[in-house]
Amino acid sequence: MDIAEVLTLADELIFAKTGKHLDYVQEAILRGTLQDTTYTQIAQEVYSSPSHVRNVGSQLWKILSKELGKNITKANFRTVLENSKIYNYQSAIVENIIGESITVNNKLNICREKGRSPKTPQNPQPTAKQPRIDLGDAPEISTFFDRTSELTTLKQWILENRTRLISILGLSGSGKSAIALQLIQHIQYEFDCIIWRSLRDAPPLQTLETDLIQFCRGGAPVPAPEERATTGGLPLQYLRSHRCLIVLDDVQTIFSSQQLAGNYQPGYENYGTFFKQIAESCHNSCIVLISWEKPREIAALESHQKNCQTLQLNGLGEPAREIFIEKGLLESENWSKLIDIYRGNPLWLNTVAAAIQDLFSGNISEFLSYDSLVLGDLEYLLHQHFQRLSDSEKQVMSWLANQNKAVEISKKPAILELSASEVLKAVESLRRRLLIEKVQKGDRTLFTVQPAIAEYIKTNIK
Ligand SMILES: Nc1ncnc2c1ncn2[C@@H]1O[C@H](COP(=O)(O)OP(=O)(O)OP(=O)(O)O)[C@@H](O)[C@H]1O
Ligand SMILES: [Mg+2]
Repeated sequence: MDIAEVLTLADELIFAKTGKHLDYVQEAILRGTLQDTTYTQIAQEVYSSPSHVRNVGSQLWKILSKELGKNITKANFRTVLENSKIYNYQSAIVENIIGESITVNNKLNICREKGRSPKTPQNPQPTAKQPRIDLGDAPEISTFFDRTSELTTLKQWILENRTRLISILGLSGSGKSAIALQLIQHIQYEFDCIIWRSLRDAPPLQTLETDLIQFCRGGAPVPAPEERATTGGLPLQYLRSHRCLIVLDDVQTIFSSQQLAGNYQPGYENYGTFFKQIAESCHNSCIVLISWEKPREIAALESHQKNCQTLQLNGLGEPAREIFIEKGLLESENWSKLIDIYRGNPLWLNTVAAAIQDLFSGNISEFLSYDSLVLGDLEYLLHQHFQRLSDSEKQVMSWLANQNKAVEISKKPAILELSASEVLKAVESLRRRLLIEKVQKGDRTLFTVQPAIAEYIKTNIK
């Protein structure tokens, strides 16, 4: 059975009905259904919960039933396809459904169209080429909800635009590592080798390069560093001859604490040259940097978007409700409020949901009735961000956190012992760390601090 053809067909139907293409969960459900796998197995494959996958499946079957005029379920999908002769098994070409052709909404006769959907299926099936993969110490992610548009953007940059250097930036717990792992699942067959390394222990660049080259060469002896220097340094030659996807996690470790964002620690400045070289040199590979802070040179490199792009990973938004379903939280009418307060950060929401269960027996109103926000275990997470700030950044954060609303930075009070340019630099740096939010009001640009961070500052920074 040609799964790719079914996915293309389903994509056409869903696109005609909803204006959106199949997302990766829908696609996994269709593929899994044709391969007789259970929702639980599909959920494992997409790092999601069985309940979420079941919900998405139920919506999918509803749309397909309506479009095809048959009652379709997971249990009968395969049989309906076979009985309806959707396939011509010999040629594996979508022939017709229930009669001569498919008519969608009485308008679009998709089987007679020569052109394909604007998009091919998202997860191409494994071809003969299997990538070599070493995920090293990548974290294990048990559930994964949504992030459809972010994944689409990343795939477009990597597969269509051939962007060479991509940064995924976000606060701790926003799901940077999770989305990168999900991305690997989606695009692995496009690469010869995939390697994931955490910079948590701040390896010198030479150590990292040796490690990368060793992997790219499949364990063959690595040329000495002096020899590598004469051949253009680094693994560039390998990145040209092989299409590699290199994910470097926890990149913030190589930046200095108590300084403005993105300044390399002494001895790590050569990473900056390495990143620049990756973005500007000609090769077929892609390096994804995962970090709390934006490396300094990235801003300049971004002006050439084909080479370098940044994804700022914001909150999950409404799909974060799945976290509360999983945690068995009550009072669904208050869920959006929690998502807003914690800006949809999956780790924070998981932490808070667990605390609400434990301390308030799942009663959100009681949790919210406290005068100040209960931070609990979040305090430690926020502390990790704050200990990295420079003095000027701490002062600006304290000022902003103690305002009741977003303010213009030109309105800085005299009590703030910083010059206008110091304030500007601090604000720019805090933006690079995603610690302050920008609010546009007409032609006025205002800045504010999200509630959990403001609470942390009020209680911890005097
Ligand atoms: N899309 C998602 N759906 C459900 N859970 C998620 C999602 N993204 C992340 N999580 C959960 O949130 C937690 C934090 O995710 P992750 O480790 O990816 O964050 P991070 O941004 O890499 O944090 P850090 O910067 O501290 O490494 C994990 O337990 C993960 O399972
Ligand atoms: Mg991470």
